[in-house]
Amino acid sequence: MNEKIEISLPNNIQLYIKREDLLHPLISGNKFRKLKYNIQEAKDTKSKLLITFGGAYSNHILATAAAGKEYDFSTLGFIRGDELKDKVLENPTLSNAQDLGMSFEFISRELFSKKEDVSFVSGIQEKYPNSYILPEGGTNELAIKGCEEILNEEDKTFDFVCCAVGTGGTISGIINSSFENQKIIGFSALKGDFLSDVICKFVTKKNWIINSDYHFGGYGKITDELVDHLNEFHSKTNIPLDPIYTGKMVYGILDLIKKQYFPKNSKILIIHTGGLQGGKGVNLVRKQKNKTLLHYL
Ligand SMILES: Cc1ncc(COP(=O)(O)O)c(C=O)c1O
Repeated sequence: MNEKIEISLPNNIQLYIKREDLLHPLISGNKFRKLKYNIQEAKDTKSKLLITFGGAYSNHILATAAAGKEYDFSTLGFIRGDELKDKVLENPTLSNAQDLGMSFEFISRELFSKKEDVSFVSGIQEKYPNSYILPEGGTNELAIKGCEEILNEEDKTFDFVCCAVGTGGTISGIINSSFENQKIIGFSALKGDFLSDVICKFVTKKNWIINSDYHFGGYGKITDELVDHLNEFHSKTNIPLDPIYTGKMVYGILDLIKKQYFPKNSKILIIHTGGLQGGKGVNLVRKQKNKTLLHYL
């Protein structure tokens, strides 16, 4: 599953990518890992309905809808903001999730921000008995257990492992199963420095850092320069990247290689966490502009 990236690099750096995006067409990358033990737990507790939360372009919303269809659960997504309430078909993520059987509750951003409050959660449990609630982004202890299966024995030889970070669950699993002398670098898709505190709750090892220099202005912000980079990387390697997470990370890695951050002869493993479905929505939003993601056309 590790592919060598055949582009010319200085300092005898070797770059590989773990194609977790190819694990499943819809439950792709880290979503597959995060859902694995949660689905098992939902089955064990005889739950009938998976409930989760996300924005209108969320990879986790679509993956949960697909997992529900595949493993025989009903699914309900609480969506942040109600502007798409009557326009589901205009949004590729939501319309695909709907086709997979998911129903939605659109809630205001204010209410969405209170989704972890005890009163909100108990209200859901009362309204939907027999439900299994997955947090936004899917990160919980069982998700991290699943993400601990991303690295395996054959990955021992890498000096650096890089992954994109949103809620911190994926990198926590990777850190837990990393090997001695390996350094894990998380590239934050979000502005701000709060992630390290979150990750510290799930890990005890100290062989990791969060790089916050490549979020391109914040979560979901996409510049022409980033689109050019994704298109160029795809045309050189035939590897598609998403514009929210993996694309920004790979931009960061190549920039750091150029700046000689990595020692000579370093062997670097990139984790492709999937998320490619989100690019379709990004292209729709960008269609007025003359730069679009070519691998989604
Ligand atoms: C494609 C992709 N990569 C990386 C991440 C970041 O994962 P985490 O939220 O576990 O940090 C996400 C978000 O879940 C994602 O959708």
